[in-house]
Amino acid sequence: MEYNISDKAVTKYKSDCLVLPVNKDTTLPEGLPEACAAQIKACVKSGDFSGNAQQTLLISAPEGIAAKRLLLIGTGSKDPINIIALGKLVSAAVAAVNATGAANAAWLLDASLASPLSGEEQLLEVVRLVDAASYRFDHYCSSKKASTLTKWTFMTSDSKAGMKKALAQGKALASGVAFARDLGNQPPNVCFPTWLTEQARVLAKHHEKLKVSVVSEKQAEKLGMGAFCAVSKGSEREGQIIVFEYQGAKGKPVALVGKGVTFDTGGISLKPGAAMDEMKYDMCGAASVFGTVKAVCEMGLPINLVAVVAAAENMPDGRASRPGDIVKTLSGQTVEILNTDAEGRLVLCDALTYVQNKYKPSTVIDIATLTGACVVALGAHAQAVYANDDALSEALLNAGKQSGDRGWPMPLWDDYQGQLDSPFADMANIGGPKGGSITAACFLSRFTKDVKWAHLDIAGTAWISGGKVKGATGRPVPMLTRYLMNLANA
Ligand code: BES
Ligand code: MN
Ligand code: ZN
Repeated sequence: MEYNISDKAVTKYKSDCLVLPVNKDTTLPEGLPEACAAQIKACVKSGDFSGNAQQTLLISAPEGIAAKRLLLIGTGSKDPINIIALGKLVSAAVAAVNATGAANAAWLLDASLASPLSGEEQLLEVVRLVDAASYRFDHYCSSKKASTLTKWTFMTSDSKAGMKKALAQGKALASGVAFARDLGNQPPNVCFPTWLTEQARVLAKHHEKLKVSVVSEKQAEKLGMGAFCAVSKGSEREGQIIVFEYQGAKGKPVALVGKGVTFDTGGISLKPGAAMDEMKYDMCGAASVFGTVKAVCEMGLPINLVAVVAAAENMPDGRASRPGDIVKTLSGQTVEILNTDAEGRLVLCDALTYVQNKYKPSTVIDIATLTGACVVALGAHAQAVYANDDALSEALLNAGKQSGDRGWPMPLWDDYQGQLDSPFADMANIGGPKGGSITAACFLSRFTKDVKWAHLDIAGTAWISGGKVKGATGRPVPMLTRYLMNLANA
């Protein structure tokens, strides 16, 4: 979809559909012709439209409006709405516009629609939300499901540099989110570790400031990544540690580390069959790293970023790890693998050590679909945020609030560490049934002692399970990108 802004009078701008958010008081923005306002008032009077949240009403173009149709969309509030309500409003509007078969649409921007967002921030978010609502993954469908919409224009009298920048940033964020969703939705017979490497190389080709390098599985073994290799060796597909370097500024880099398990069967601790297909999404941490890197590149953020993806397939095989195996991690610490299905922490711990040794980052953030326990704890709406530094935790939670891609803080207390005790090695890779998301985070904390570190457990937020709307969400690309934008502005 092509997005642009126009400062043409709303009366004169030709489009298939003009979208007009209307609040609960049904006060209309300035600039609408009298006849148009009268027609809308008549709809309110007749009871056809009340401004309820996500209520839509399509009317043919009132006199004095160059658009073919007008779509009223209720905000459901007398006051400005928050980012979450804005997201719902945009999805309802996009669905209604799509249903008309329109090729293009215009959206009348009103800075007072959402709070506490500035007009510029609102534009950035609406671009991202329109794009997300228009997203389809139909690469493998013979009949395409894609919408007919190709152009979306934002009508605003303020077309100054700030708005142009917000539009560009919104587009960059949207393309990062869509990229993460595309990678997540790919089937696991296509999306495997070396395929991810190819995608990384394609991305780097398009961006001068971005470099990619790869640690092959053989090299990983030589380096001493015993935990990563313990997972990857059960697969015919070669594991990969994919490393992005984006240099938009000097100084110590921020590091992102993504879990890229391209399919998680559980290994010898085989998972039950029901919905196992969804374990293709076990690389969504990696996908969010790819998406965030793409957004950062397109925005050209003045930051120094390294991003590492630990890509492996967790398969049962004659060479696969067994429960009871003891492996030595790159950090030197040993791990007793009690359950081969707790593989995410194994691939991540070596990637975490690697990035710290090689790049001396100021901050490390890992992102992983790490535990089913996290889905039980927080459901599908918030990702778990763990951190060994309060300011970092706050910064991520704030970025989540700002972008509507919310997280929730979780404890990393020492009290939980004992659950990882092993009689035979420095630690076990599982901590029993209690607090499963927390003990997984505790495991990772043992590999990130001398750096500011946060861990996002995105098992509940990275995809929508079951049903017709099943698919990757692109989370937490908005949270991470907003966090990095805030860093760049600080
Ligand atoms: N990839 C899964 C976590 C997961 C499960 C994400 C369901 C989303 C939905 C992870 O590798 C895993 O299998 N974790 C185990 C850990 C357990 C063996 C300690 C789990 O959560 O059951
Ligand atoms: Mn697993
Ligand atoms: Zn997994």
